[in-house]
Amino acid sequence: MQRRPLVAGNWKMNGLKSSAAELDKIIAGARQLVNAELMVCPPATLLQEFATAARGSPVAIGAQDCHVLAAGAYTGDISAEMLKDAGAQAVIVGHSERRRYHGETDAMVRGKALAARRAGLLAIVCVGETRAERDAGHARPVVRAQLDGSLPEPADDLVFAVAYEPVWAIGSGATPGRGDIAEMHAFIRQRLSARYGDVGQGTRILYGGSVKPANAEELLTIDDVDGALVGGASLKAEEFLAIAAVCG
Ligand code: 13P
Repeated sequence: MQRRPLVAGNWKMNGLKSSAAELDKIIAGARQLVNAELMVCPPATLLQEFATAARGSPVAIGAQDCHVLAAGAYTGDISAEMLKDAGAQAVIVGHSERRRYHGETDAMVRGKALAARRAGLLAIVCVGETRAERDAGHARPVVRAQLDGSLPEPADDLVFAVAYEPVWAIGSGATPGRGDIAEMHAFIRQRLSARYGDVGQGTRILYGGSVKPANAEELLTIDDVDGALVGGASLKAEEFLAIAAVCG
């Protein structure tokens, strides 16, 4: 099945109003791409401005987290509906930094994926094992449990993406070998197909963790790798565009 590659930049807690110039460069570069879909996920403070700047361009704008509920007394939180209202088209949920620093469980991540669906946002659901889990030979069962617990139940017109981000590869410069990535992505595809049928076949599985221009070709040409979730390298337009160019 044909899946359009998605290259999404997770800016994490980086970016000020002055970063708009970088987005402009990304938008200009994205017009040269024919195949890859580009997305930038800035901090919430920049969502509205970035969404306005990117309107009508090939660059989609996404958020990095959302609350499970649509509104209420939850100081500091932001709902999926608010993100949509600010112009977001997608939201990352269950990133390992949220799971680790904010104690997010699979059940909470599933709630957030459902919130995204309710608001009409594409959820990018993150999974991935730690170094200790991989070394113990538990990478597959860990990812399997995260998929089972974090993804929404099958439903008509359900759309989401999965990002496989080994925790130990994030920001470290280290990545799994091609064989390990191929094996994990094939495993995720198998789980998605078994649970969602055709929807699982069409669901994009992104790889994330130290994706750079120098290794993009090696990482993004693996079977069942349908794009990338890029952290540090997405902050610089030239690097982000060089990664996306691998997908065409
Ligand atoms: P790096 O690309 O900086 O390793 O970050 C990956 C990531 O966490 C994207 O969500």
